[in-house]
Amino acid sequence: MIRNQWYVILESREVKQGTLLSVRRMGRDLVLWRDTKGTVECMSDHCIHRGVALSAGKVKGDCVECPFHGLQYDGRGRVTVIPANGKDAPVPATFQGEAFVVREAHGYVYLWWGEPREEYPELPFIPGLDDTRLTYGTWRDPWNAFYTRAIENQLDVVHLPFIHYNTIGAGNRTIVNGPVARLDGNILRVWVDNEKDHGQTPRRPDEMPVPERDAQLTFVFPNLWQNNLGPNARISAAFVCVDEQHSILYLRFYRRFGRLPVVRQLFDLLTGLADITIAHQDRRVVQTQRPFVSSLNGGEKLIQGDLPIVLYRRRREQLQKEAQAPTA
Ligand code: FES
Ligand SMILES: [Fe+2]
Repeated sequence: MIRNQWYVILESREVKQGTLLSVRRMGRDLVLWRDTKGTVECMSDHCIHRGVALSAGKVKGDCVECPFHGLQYDGRGRVTVIPANGKDAPVPATFQGEAFVVREAHGYVYLWWGEPREEYPELPFIPGLDDTRLTYGTWRDPWNAFYTRAIENQLDVVHLPFIHYNTIGAGNRTIVNGPVARLDGNILRVWVDNEKDHGQTPRRPDEMPVPERDAQLTFVFPNLWQNNLGPNARISAAFVCVDEQHSILYLRFYRRFGRLPVVRQLFDLLTGLADITIAHQDRRVVQTQRPFVSSLNGGEKLIQGDLPIVLYRRRREQLQKEAQAPTA
């Protein structure tokens, strides 16, 4: 993982008032709940007393209560009461569990993966996707792959006529011109220009004209992506890391249509099924990639068409280095 980043880890609606949610994210077992104001809280799913999973306990006011001996933790991971010592007894300062900073926006729960700090950077999101005229449905799709492999697959413009030969890659456009790929801070944009092979040589990225249209693919570090299908429709994905061998794709189909609710529901259902079908064409193949964790110098023999993946890996490595560098 890249440290010191906000990662989408869940959809907001998955964290319900009054219940504990146990999930595995970034290789850690976590428990999430909402306090009495509805604010999402998150801790390591581990009681510091005798190692029980806190998610087997319950929400008590703003706190989570361990099922074994009733220790209660607030959202900062501090034990507020040790019942066996008496409800008014002071709690030693060392009784501190591990809490994580979480925030909610855009219908997602974000987790800060890094050192706590006074001020946090803005939550990342796809530019323009917060347009209130766009509505969306979400599909949750588990993959047996590290999240970077799933991201790279969605930046891969070479695979379309092979994996998706009978869906979005129909037409046998195997020649990959460019592609044009631009990195602007933490945003990577990709324009696709594939065509049929008539014996021509693909154009190099520096021979490609600067596209005036919006990029088809947009990726925002560390784990958000969009496929722009036009002004009224976009597919987005949050690539959520479970651990080194598992991830969950939160696929959303955004659209802007003032249609009757029943037509809209049917439309959502059909597009959702189409998205999942296409994602499963990818998933079947990506799950076989080894090693699970991809890297810039991982020994793969890359080709010109892999430019977006190279830029992704380069930026990822740069961010990892920056996160390790001692702060002044
Ligand atoms: S193990 Fe949690 S209170 Fe004892
Ligand atoms: Fe694909």
